[in-house]
This record gives sequence, C-alpha cells and structure tokens, in this order.
Amino acid sequence: MPTRNLGLDLMRATEAAALASARFVGRGDKEGGDRAAVEAMRLLLNSLDFRGRVVIGEGEKDQAPMLYNGEVLGQGEGPLWDLAVDPVEGTRLLALGRYGAVSVIAAAPEGALFNPGPGFYAAKLVVGPEARQAIDLRASVAENLKEIARALRKSVRELTVFVLDKPRHARLIEEIRLAGARISLQTDGDVGGALAAVLPDTGIDVLMGTGGTPEGVIAAVAVRALGGGMQMRLDPQSEEERWNLVHAGYDLERVYTLEELCAAEDTHFAATGITDGPFLRGVRYGERAWTQSLVIRGATRTLRKVEAWHRLEKLRGISPVAY
Ligand code: FBP
Repeated sequence: MPTRNLGLDLMRATEAAALASARFVGRGDKEGGDRAAVEAMRLLLNSLDFRGRVVIGEGEKDQAPMLYNGEVLGQGEGPLWDLAVDPVEGTRLLALGRYGAVSVIAAAPEGALFNPGPGFYAAKLVVGPEARQAIDLRASVAENLKEIARALRKSVRELTVFVLDKPRHARLIEEIRLAGARISLQTDGDVGGALAAVLPDTGIDVLMGTGGTPEGVIAAVAVRALGGGMQMRLDPQSEEERWNLVHAGYDLERVYTLEELCAAEDTHFAATGITDGPFLRGVRYGERAWTQSLVIRGATRTLRKVEAWHRLEKLRGISPVAY
C-alpha cells in the first residue's frame, strides 16, 4: 500500500528557501541570503502536516542565522521526525554566484541521526554503490583510490576526486596527485560533493577530505538512501574544538560507519538548486520562477528529480525578498 512521501512536502521547504535566497546570487551578501532562506524554510516547514525537530541546524560554526537545534516545526501529530537542515549549503557560493549552492533537508526517525556534539569538522570518504565496500578511512589515500578504482573497473588515473579547496588539504591533494587521480577542487559545498560521488554521471567518483560535521550527517542520509558508501571521523580544526569533543566523551580516532551516521532506512531527503551545480540547476526567473529539486526516499530508494514553475505572486507569501 503506497504511503505518504514526506520528502515531497520537505521539497516545498527547500524550494521556498532556494527561491528566497536565489535573489541574493552574486550580491556578496552571505548573511542576507542565508537569512532569507532560513525564514522561508521555517515558514514552509511550520505549515506542513507533520512534526519535526531540528537536531542538526547549521550555522553555529560561524554564528550564521539558523534554524535552532531543538526547534520543533510543523502542524501535525504523529511520530516526531528528526531534521537536519541546511537552508543554504554553500553560502559563499551563493554570495559569489558560483556553482553548487543548494538548499537541503534530511529527515529521519527520532534518534537515528549521529549527534556531532561540539564537533564542527569531520574527515569524510564517500563513494557510490559499486565502491561502497572499497573504502577505509584508516587506510592511505593511495590504497583507497586503488580499491575504489578496482571496484569501479577503472584505473586510478580515470578517477575524479572531489576535494574542498582549503589549506588543510595541501597534503591530501599531494597524495591524490601522487596516486595519479584527477581532482575537482571546489571552494565550498561538500554535501553537493558527496551527492555527486554517489549519483551516476556527475563526473565525480569519490569525495575525500574534511568539511562540516553537520554537512556530513545531512549527506549520510542521502548516501545511505542511494546505496552509497561513506565513513567519517571527527577532525577538530582548533584546540578548543578538540578539547570540547574530548571532554564530551568523543573518541577522535573512531571511524563512524554510514549506519552509525544514519541509523534508519525510513528517511527522506530533499534538495533544491540555488545556483547551477553538478546534478541540479539553479533558480531561473522569467514569467514564472523555475526550480529543480531532488527528492530521495530511503524506505523505497526512489529518487525523483522535480521541476517546478512558481507563479511570481506566490513568492510574496514565501518571503518578502523572493518576489
Ligand atoms: P556554509 O554553507 O555554511 O557556508 O558551508 C559551506 C561549506 O563549504 C560546507 O559545504 C563544508 O562542509 C564547510 O563549509 C567547510 O567549512 P570551512 O569553509 O570552514 O572549511
């Protein structure tokens, strides 16, 4: 018996956030774009017939406007969904009008998502379904690339690795180059990078490197629902972060499996493009505003790509800046 797909409702919230923030593309205003997205997403989520509690609200890292951890949203009754939200994933990409900014929400049954506590950064390794057994964060970069290439029936030279272009990755980049693989170096957006590694035909085979921990948990929901492989290890980037993690009882050597990051199959994931990216196109304006979204349902593994044409007047109800 078909049942309600909550992801389709959540998609309306990522659409709203994308529509509100897309007015800020290239305007150099990270905060303004993020705030518009947060407000539109909150408005939409609060209108839905469900009950969700934000457990991963992005923003603490840089004091950005955010949907707060613990905030309960929605009008409905029934089971509580845990929400991991990122109204604008890639605020700098948005502000500079660069490729790859998306709006995302992941939902999982209560308690199913990894709680990163005071951890802001984590090392991640993500691949698609065919290579899911081939990864091991404890092994060297060269060893991982060799095993991934074998699983994909390619040579290492034919692999493309998504890496965030950050000073902390100087050694990683060197190791990948030494191993002979190609690199897609992007300034931001490793949720998009993880999705690109798992989805077919994006040109990306694997994601390596350290990015935001909340982004890691959000990505894990989509990676698991798509049958991909992922491992993560907390990787604090300051003494204070390290101290906070150790004192909160986290083991910094531990490699978390995909099933530990997202412990349920009954999950939902929605993403809408803000700017163009490797698997979603960004918001377009004309007589109507156009969006493209991805909706993934963990229980059935259905992946939908949804195009929508929105009447411009409707946008007034979503956000004062979206119209
Ligand atoms: P924001 O949307 O919060 O700006 O995050 C973008 C991002 O690039 C993430 O995709 C990534 O996980 C994280 O920032 C990396 O953090 P930092 O830029 O501090 O290295």
